[in-house]
Amino acid sequence: MADYNLVVRGGTVVTASDAYRADVGIIGERIAAVGENLQGERSVDAGGLLVMPGGVDTHCHIAQLRPEGGTDEESFTTGSAAALLGGTTTAISFSTQFKGQPIRDTLNEYRELARASAIDYSFHQIISDPTDEVLAEIPGLVEAGIRSLKVFLTYDTVHLDDRQYLQVLSVARRTGALVTVHCENYDAIDWRARALLADGRTAPKYHAWSRPEIVEREATYRAIALAELVDQPIQIFHVSSAGVAKEIARAQARGVKVWAETCPQYLTLTAADMDRPGFEGAKYMCSPSPRDVQAQEGLWDTIRRGTIDVVSSDHSGFSYHGDLGKRSNGEDAPFTNIPNGLPGLATRLPLLFSEGVAKGRIDVTDFVRLVASQPARIFGLTRKGRIAPGADADILLWDPTRKVKITNDKLGHAIDHTPYEGMEVTGWAEAVFLRGQLAMQSGKVVAAPGSGKFLARDAYDLIKPTGRLADGFDAAAMAVGPSGKRLV
Ligand code: URP
Ligand code: ZN
Ligand code: ZN
Repeated sequence: MADYNLVVRGGTVVTASDAYRADVGIIGERIAAVGENLQGERSVDAGGLLVMPGGVDTHCHIAQLRPEGGTDEESFTTGSAAALLGGTTTAISFSTQFKGQPIRDTLNEYRELARASAIDYSFHQIISDPTDEVLAEIPGLVEAGIRSLKVFLTYDTVHLDDRQYLQVLSVARRTGALVTVHCENYDAIDWRARALLADGRTAPKYHAWSRPEIVEREATYRAIALAELVDQPIQIFHVSSAGVAKEIARAQARGVKVWAETCPQYLTLTAADMDRPGFEGAKYMCSPSPRDVQAQEGLWDTIRRGTIDVVSSDHSGFSYHGDLGKRSNGEDAPFTNIPNGLPGLATRLPLLFSEGVAKGRIDVTDFVRLVASQPARIFGLTRKGRIAPGADADILLWDPTRKVKITNDKLGHAIDHTPYEGMEVTGWAEAVFLRGQLAMQSGKVVAAPGSGKFLARDAYDLIKPTGRLADGFDAAAMAVGPSGKRLV
């Protein structure tokens, strides 16, 4: 008698704490049992494979709206295909507020674009212009399940100053949202970039010179200190080195609720990649800048110590040849006019597994914790990131020994290159199930566009404030907006 619709049989189940031989029984969209000799109407042979939760990528830019109209090159159709080919079943992308615009209309536009997704998804709301009116929109947004806000401390068009950042932290505290932060000092970068340009240093490699580690370290310290002042939990995005992670570890040790993310590019690339001949270096340009080999080893160490909880892709693809891509301002464009960001949805898991697990730097349970369980936990995706009864049956079958040479044609994204072209990795996704349905097998996406679901995130305890305020006065509770008036 079959107890389950589907049984994944004979593989090694890997969770964030254990790896053991077991079958996984699925009823409908959920995991119903993990045990031995389970009987299903259908079964899938996972012998020799790892059975892990589908990857949860909590930092990727898909179909980002452009201020001048239209979207960036990656659509939800191609972005979600890339995710499935790389073993990822859930993504949190971004809804960007443009200055002078309300949030709600833009969010609706993103929700519409995301209907093409073949994986489950949610959004972080970027706040670039925290006026009284915009701040007053946030409680409704959070109530609708957008339980994380994103702020930038750099970039010309979106950076917030300290007062604006405090306003966003305060409204997040009152409404129960997590704040995620891009930490680099805007003024310091601008000051250095202008000096570099004045000196004729315009090539892609000077991107790294404009933003050395100290500008990230300073902004990280400041982001944490202000969050501590408000008593508002935050997550720091794309930590590039151990020096930056140390600021986070010190705060974690004194009980501040701060989580940290890094990305494969900071574990595999260096600033020297931007010094490739001609304009090639632009393919490696992202912010913060990749550092050096020593910084990479330091980052692995902070991953092992648990300072860094999450490895996301920060997928932000710009083609090399296309009109909207890296060369959109010409090959002579100074580094300040080249779009920042790298494609990474499809390569996140292979790179972390190969460089981390296969090379003995981390355990396979750490891998699951970093790419699925912790991202799901930190961002309130309660049914994701676990192989356990009650969880969504998002299951990744992974071959830990398969050696694959990364080439762009395997990755499914809309971008015409990968920074990892030609790199050989050990470990590759063989098949992916999304809520019990086969979504990818042997390098072919079988899920139809639109099979992904929007994930509204409810309130959850992890991101509640600590209740510890410097002097007991809760300034955030006063709800005084930037105009000096009480917010309604
Ligand atoms: O260079 C990057 N990281 N581009 C994407 C936007 C961001 O800063 O996260
Ligand atoms: Zn960023
Ligand atoms: Zn990003």
